[in-house]
Amino acid sequence: MNIKSIDSNTVENAMASVRAPDMGLAPQECVMPEPGDPCTIVIMGATGDLTSRKLMPQLFNLYLNAGLPEPFLIVGIGRQTFGEQEFRAHTQAALNKAGVYDESRWPDFAKALHYRAADFADPESFSQMARALRDLDQQFHTQGNRIFYMALPPSIYKSAAHLIGQAGLADEHQNGNGWSRIVVEKPFGTNLKTAIDLDQSLSRDFTEHQIFRIDHYLAKETVQNVLMLRFANSLFEPIWNRRYVDYVAITAIEELGVEHRAGYYEQSGVLRDMFQNHMMQLLALTAMEPPSRFEADPVRDEKVKVFRSLRPFQVGNLAQNLVLGQYAAGTVNGEAVRAYRDEPGVAADSLTPTFALMKVYLDNWRWQGVPFYLMSGKRLDQKLTEIAIQFKSVPHSMFRHTLAETIPANRLILGIYPEEKITLTFQTKNPGATVCLRTVTMDFHYQQNSSGPVLDAYGRALIDCMLGDQMLFWRQDGVELCWKFLTPILDRCEDCDDQEELLHFYEAGSEGPKAIESLLQ
Ligand code: BG6
Repeated sequence: MNIKSIDSNTVENAMASVRAPDMGLAPQECVMPEPGDPCTIVIMGATGDLTSRKLMPQLFNLYLNAGLPEPFLIVGIGRQTFGEQEFRAHTQAALNKAGVYDESRWPDFAKALHYRAADFADPESFSQMARALRDLDQQFHTQGNRIFYMALPPSIYKSAAHLIGQAGLADEHQNGNGWSRIVVEKPFGTNLKTAIDLDQSLSRDFTEHQIFRIDHYLAKETVQNVLMLRFANSLFEPIWNRRYVDYVAITAIEELGVEHRAGYYEQSGVLRDMFQNHMMQLLALTAMEPPSRFEADPVRDEKVKVFRSLRPFQVGNLAQNLVLGQYAAGTVNGEAVRAYRDEPGVAADSLTPTFALMKVYLDNWRWQGVPFYLMSGKRLDQKLTEIAIQFKSVPHSMFRHTLAETIPANRLILGIYPEEKITLTFQTKNPGATVCLRTVTMDFHYQQNSSGPVLDAYGRALIDCMLGDQMLFWRQDGVELCWKFLTPILDRCEDCDDQEELLHFYEAGSEGPKAIESLLQ
């Protein structure tokens, strides 16, 4: 069984005609919501990689497209003793590198950038930061509304969040504060226990409505589109269940290796890096029931029900649900690449998985007996992210004796990367006097008829955080349920005598370990 794309050689494409949206809104009006309250975005870890690569370019992009409130401030907090001008020059270089720099708009944006040096373990530093933020509020009328974006190593989240609280900055609508929000990046803990522990720490100073646990997959346009496709059409929902669906394959594979992140990845591996977060969200969006309203809590309530219905794996027989792999040396895009164990910072005998295929079942009325294959890995033959719904074959073929014995079943592919498109495959008659069937596709390209600016997932997440909308962020109950499912698997994989046997090596640039065949039967 091929759980990736259908073989394009055997399929001809037929373009679906897509009319312009008729919703009373010009496409441009769909792109950017009205900016929210004036606010200050406080970036904790302002000289780091995440800030330079993602946050600043996306904030600048929002600024260019009128997506930031008026007034707004960005205050960088970092260990380095930068002056204001140095920080601005550092940011300017980052924007240039990201390819978003605009000479004519930069001077005004730069005026909103400020910097304060801080020691992330020192309460006095945070008191000084609080005074500085209040002074800036007075000066620029940002009304005490603040987002604290933790672009810090996860090991510092707890103490930094608590110091923000101790400095009086987490309390909302008092002492000169307006609203106060904290954004945390994954990993949200490393297992169930540490996830609960992290949450308890954050909850000392912030309540759930203030905590924004970011998952950039949720903010991808095409990922959000899964709910629109399912619940804004009456066509798909009646067949979106065990009666018509044979299996679902959710794939997020990439060509990249571990790059410079061995320190993190050695502790994390593919299960914590991709499954605990992105893969679970894709699963939830595909499998959830329709929420009563398109709002953060009703949507997250339905996702949580999916997580609750995950059938636990039998840890004594993991092989029936899980294949783990690690990349060996190979060739990617014509270039020889080294094995994971030879990457800088990786132990020579590392047993960290860089690939996993999971066969997951949901014990609920809609999906009983339907396998969900979740596959993710590094250093594979391509970068591909998609959700494929494989429908069942026709129950009886009246063409059996004249045409093929078996007729390929329909497949709906929700492409997330590289192609943002929806593809439906179906059978038609081949034109001509002889009677032949052929498989064709109907494709909708996501950017078709759209000319507005394209928002990166981080840009979208930042907008929602400024607006206080938590729909695209994890709620703690979901985090805990996913850890509850994964922790026994991780414990078994990491603490057993046969740990080595569970790991299958695959050549870099290949389709993954051969052992996946056994799970796909
Ligand atoms: C990140 C993981 O969350 O997602 C990376 O830490 C992975 O290891 C990345 O490469 C994939 O994201 P995307 O958006 O490129 O599919």
